[in-house]
Amino acid sequence: MKIAVSGKGGVGKTLIAGTLARLFAKEGFNVLAIDNDSAMNLSYTLGIDKELKEKIIPISEMKNLIEERVSVKGGGPGIYNINPEVSDIPDKYKVTGPDGIQLLVLGSIEEPATGCLCPENALIRTLLYNLFVKRDEVIIVDFEAGLEHLGRGTAKGIDVMLVITEPSQKSLDLCSKIIDLSKKLGIINIFLIANKVFDDSQLEIINQRVQDWGVPLYHTIPFDSEIGKADLNGESPIDFNPDSKGLGAIKSLYLKLKQLKDELFDL
Ligand SMILES: Nc1ncnc2c1ncn2[C@@H]1O[C@H](COP(=O)(O)OP(=O)(O)OP(=O)(O)O)[C@@H](O)[C@H]1O
Ligand SMILES: [Mg+2]
Repeated sequence: MKIAVSGKGGVGKTLIAGTLARLFAKEGFNVLAIDNDSAMNLSYTLGIDKELKEKIIPISEMKNLIEERVSVKGGGPGIYNINPEVSDIPDKYKVTGPDGIQLLVLGSIEEPATGCLCPENALIRTLLYNLFVKRDEVIIVDFEAGLEHLGRGTAKGIDVMLVITEPSQKSLDLCSKIIDLSKKLGIINIFLIANKVFDDSQLEIINQRVQDWGVPLYHTIPFDSEIGKADLNGESPIDFNPDSKGLGAIKSLYLKLKQLKDELFDL
């Protein structure tokens, strides 16, 4: 199952992607976590060793690899292969973290204008779309904030899109756009998740806003100061305090997704 996480900046995408990845891995699933954000901080949430972290080079910065796979011999500038061979890349460049989790750091490149598709993104897009998911394998993609990944089609082929909001109208505005674009890309399982929730009055407002979206609120994660403490200590939240209320809520999200996986793929 390919799960992706998207939403506005700072809503908790990386926390949720990284923690879900660890939870699936703890139960014996083969997990490939993919960092497709230019900030590249999924490794913190996963609890990847500091020394290893420093050695990781994102695919988007591997000039030779991009040249080798994407450039068309004899073609002028801007002419490149839109379907490069990518199947060996994850195995070659992934690193292993706690619970046997695999991490592949793609990074991200901002494109100057729509319609101008740079080779870095062509490689990344093809890679994500062609990842082969085996039985008992889960792929979790942490996207960059905003809409870019949907606009350029990087999110094509995703089985489950988790759209994260915090209790704010601005964040909900973006979720509404993400949901529309995800539907246009043909993604069927789109789930809205409210994170950093303090009380029920916030949930009431969110539920009112999403009434006619066709995508109800799927799950709620409370604001949890333990998550901030883990961050400040440079520790993965799941290692710092796995019993905190925020982590408990992500655990129940994990159980729902695991059941969905059974329904979609194993029966
Ligand atoms: N439920 C929560 N309770 C308290 N703090 C939280 C919660 N979820 C996330 N945070 C904190 O909010 C900040 C942003 O979280 P995170 O980095 O996961 O968001 P993001 O959406 O990936 O951000 P970016 O768009 O910058 O990649 C972090 O400092 C994180 O510790
Ligand atoms: Mg992030």
